[in-house]
Amino acid sequence: MAITIKENYSLIGHNTFKIDVKATQFINYENIDELLKVLDDLRKSNKRILHIGCGSNLLFLNDFDGTILHSDIKDINYISHDKHEIVVKVGAGVIWDNFCHEMAHNNYYGCENLSHIPGEVGAAAVQNIGAYGVEVESIIREVETIETATGKPRVFSRAECEYGYRDSIFKNKLKGQYIVTAVTFTLSTTPVAHLDYGQLQELKTLPTTPSAMEIRNAVINIRKSKLPEPDELGSAGSFFKNPVVDIDVFRNIAKNYNNVPHYMLNDCQVKIPAAWLIDMCGMKGKSMGGAAVYDKQPLIIVNKNHATPAHIAALASLIQQNVYKKFNIHIEPEVNYIY
Ligand code: EPU
Repeated sequence: MAITIKENYSLIGHNTFKIDVKATQFINYENIDELLKVLDDLRKSNKRILHIGCGSNLLFLNDFDGTILHSDIKDINYISHDKHEIVVKVGAGVIWDNFCHEMAHNNYYGCENLSHIPGEVGAAAVQNIGAYGVEVESIIREVETIETATGKPRVFSRAECEYGYRDSIFKNKLKGQYIVTAVTFTLSTTPVAHLDYGQLQELKTLPTTPSAMEIRNAVINIRKSKLPEPDELGSAGSFFKNPVVDIDVFRNIAKNYNNVPHYMLNDCQVKIPAAWLIDMCGMKGKSMGGAAVYDKQPLIIVNKNHATPAHIAALASLIQQNVYKKFNIHIEPEVNYIY
């Protein structure tokens, strides 16, 4: 058994904003039997429970009065392999980018565009992480879980996960009710490259389809040029989701800004980059206490200098107000606020 239990524990190493709040209790487990035992004990104590991954999408607003659970289930099992695809089951506690590296190293295609995203496999499946034209749902086959209240296992097919943009059933209808223990992915053993995103298009000029590792390396270079490295500057990646607006709202904006970047989702809905809306409000580099709008990508709030959760939340709220005043659009946080 290797359950580790810590009391009155600092979460500074468990949230990428690097906020120094404390949890009453922090429990790490390494396999399903340990998780079941932990849940059994917690059921008796009736404590508040929050399951986290790397904390790359969380903003702790206060000390957490309850138990934080963290998975260290790190098995990677290849289930099948044929001419076209491999099926691989990956423990929820595997570092997402270690998995991406292993897949690219074997030249299996599917997650190379999602390289270098901070976080763990379980959280990736909950959050439906996405970047450079790919969302993780496209390679998910099924998600294995344990029901928090009963300890019963349940396997969700991809369809049952009800995936949407940065969304899944685990963030919505079933929030907090299931703990992901493993995710099964299908990857392609033949070249399938998604190179439509701006800077990746250069790879289209190569004489043959680039290897998964070449795409991974290009993605890592783009990310390093635009996004803060979590080890150097605390942040939670994109703070807001890109808003989807009615075509009339978009047309109104386009009257004043003929260059407004946008993606048509269908005949009546348009996605506008929140980064652009924030940029147009002149908010790049603006700070509040120790929190600042990242100057290379204004969708990101960084912990520049010992920011408190209140600084970050106040800056986020100011950004929302300014965008609303100027464009009449409400931008919604992608980051989960933990009260
Ligand atoms: N833009 C500006 N000013 C800037 C930066 C960007 O106006 O300083 C505008 C540009 O028009 C640019 C557009 O915003 O074309 C989009 O910017 P970018 O390509 O950087 O992507 P994003 O929409 O801001 C999303 C994801 C990122 C993901 C990138 C690349 C969300 C909330 N964010 O950002 O995901 O890496 O696309 O695919 O969908 C994350 O979720 O944490 C994350 C980093």
